[in-house]
Amino acid sequence: MSILARATLGDYTWMMWRKRLRDWRNPRLALARVIGATSLENFDAQGDGQVVVLRHYGLADGMAVYDLGCGCGRTAQALQRAGWQGSYTGADILAPLVRELRRACPDYTAHVHRKLSLLADDASLDMVFHWSVFTHLKPEECLIYMQDTFRALKPGGRLVFSFLELEDPQHAPIFARRAKRIAGGGKEGVLDSFLHRDWIRHFARDCGFTEPDFTDGQDGSDHPPFWQSLAVMEKPVGEDNQA
Ligand SMILES: C[S@@+](CC[C@H](N)C(=O)[O-])C[C@H]1O[C@@H](n2cnc3c(N)ncnc32)[C@H](O)[C@@H]1O
Repeated sequence: MSILARATLGDYTWMMWRKRLRDWRNPRLALARVIGATSLENFDAQGDGQVVVLRHYGLADGMAVYDLGCGCGRTAQALQRAGWQGSYTGADILAPLVRELRRACPDYTAHVHRKLSLLADDASLDMVFHWSVFTHLKPEECLIYMQDTFRALKPGGRLVFSFLELEDPQHAPIFARRAKRIAGGGKEGVLDSFLHRDWIRHFARDCGFTEPDFTDGQDGSDHPPFWQSLAVMEKPVGEDNQA
């Protein structure tokens, strides 16, 4: 299984230490800022929203779930607050974030893992989810993670993830700002990556998933608007693990 590009890890590590230095008086806040929250209140509110989304897509007690790119446990802490009962595994490339998740959620399992794979047995998971992770990966890396997700999901298990797309007028400025920065010779830093729904459909077909469903970032009909777009797909029942 392929190993994460050294440059990605370097960019992340640099960003994390800058933020930890800036907020050295409040380490929890510093780590919350590393994963994109603006305050601890915002961190909790976003985590609660993520749990509502998971419940909408079928999360139930007793399930085995995998949080890819779990960060310092925004979702894990919200699951714990919500009283969800089940088997949680998180994985991330940054050790300080994983340590914070373990501290805050001692009953959950979290790993530092730097390969493009899931630390899970074949057909062992009911749900795999990730928020703001494919937003920082190359499309090829997304495909590799989706292939391994297919392997690790039980038949009938679901993959739910968020992504950025140029068609969303609220996402497009991120792309434009980055292009401007690159044109001006500025430091690129952590990659902001965009996907197209057609690509996600293509990847899903390639892996063997059902046709994905999508939710616009501003759509609040079933749960609070997520801001990033959401993709959901299922490993068909009756699949053996040939991905
Ligand atoms: C914006 S943060 C989101 C964290 C978490 N999903 C949440 O919503 O709170 C992105 C996370 O993805 C992690 N990450 C980046 N590249 C990764 C990779 N290749 N595999 C797993 N995690 C990765 C980062 O370390 C970071 O914690």
